[in-house]
Amino acid sequence: MAINIIMLNQIIHGDCFEVLKDIPDKSIDAVITDPPYGIGLAKWDTVVDIPLFTKEVKRVSSGFYAFFGQMPTMVNWINEANNEKLHYCEHISWVKRSITPSSRLSRGHESIVLYSTGDVKKFHANRGIYEDVKLPGIAFDTITIEGIDRYIKDLWVKITTGQSKECIGITYQKEFNRFNKWGGDRSPRDCNFTNVWSFLPPTQSSSKPGIEHPTGKPIEIMKRLVEMLTPEGGTVLDPFCGSGTTAVACKELGRNYICIEKEKEYFDIACDRISQPREYSETELETMELKQPEFKQLSLFDVA
Ligand SMILES: C[S@@+](CC[C@H](N)C(=O)[O-])C[C@H]1O[C@@H](n2cnc3c(N)ncnc32)[C@H](O)[C@@H]1O
Repeated sequence: MAINIIMLNQIIHGDCFEVLKDIPDKSIDAVITDPPYGIGLAKWDTVVDIPLFTKEVKRVSSGFYAFFGQMPTMVNWINEANNEKLHYCEHISWVKRSITPSSRLSRGHESIVLYSTGDVKKFHANRGIYEDVKLPGIAFDTITIEGIDRYIKDLWVKITTGQSKECIGITYQKEFNRFNKWGGDRSPRDCNFTNVWSFLPPTQSSSKPGIEHPTGKPIEIMKRLVEMLTPEGGTVLDPFCGSGTTAVACKELGRNYICIEKEKEYFDIACDRISQPREYSETELETMELKQPEFKQLSLFDVA
């Protein structure tokens, strides 16, 4: 049975358990969601019926299931996915580059766990621009003296030729192959993603000042998950969508979405965000900042 067209590309205000009943079997390519933690963080942070939820995910998704979480409640979500015999794919550690103070150890990471809910086990994408934690030997590494030296040389090429290093061809590839003992491509613009991701939380992001949702997720993370887990034109379901980050990611990437949010305040924010012009990711903004301003040579006649 096909999805009710009225649901497609909508933020739905309601309880996801009610809305899920209307979603046909195997009609979704990926469920990507950031559920409540169930620790009383706020009024909305209620305990979810995880067994029922996981059954519904298995029923509606033909491809993948990705969920955010933290210990110790993360274990319950993983247990249920295993009980439902979903196929475990990956555990991603999101290093937030900010910390939540705690009386024991301050917390600086969150988890994202990926399962396959059907026959598809291969990700639709697993490569892209290198934005992850700088792990020595894995890929492009600007934190070493050697890395900084290379960065300055690249910048010099750009200043003197007006061209980015990657436009100059083979030298660029050779330069970034230095860690690769097996040959092949290791340029920072085309890397196999690692399972350690490093994106700033949105409250620290220059792209979106202010707090949309106390636990809002970076648009870059949602975009990467959407690209990895769905084909172009595919459909994503986020039953706990908060401020609608998943919907914005889908809109920017040409995927359909069905997003559900119970709290009117966040539902309204999600609707606003989705009607806004496209949001730019941190990386896109950084690239823009690097763009040289255009200087016009003034002639005497230009001066009033
Ligand atoms: C962790 S937040 C999601 C934040 C989101 N990822 C973002 O970037 O804004 C979880 C959201 O689930 C919503 N929620 C909780 N129970 C729900 C339910 N039964 N149905 C729909 N939404 C629910 C909460 O109101 C909350 O906004």
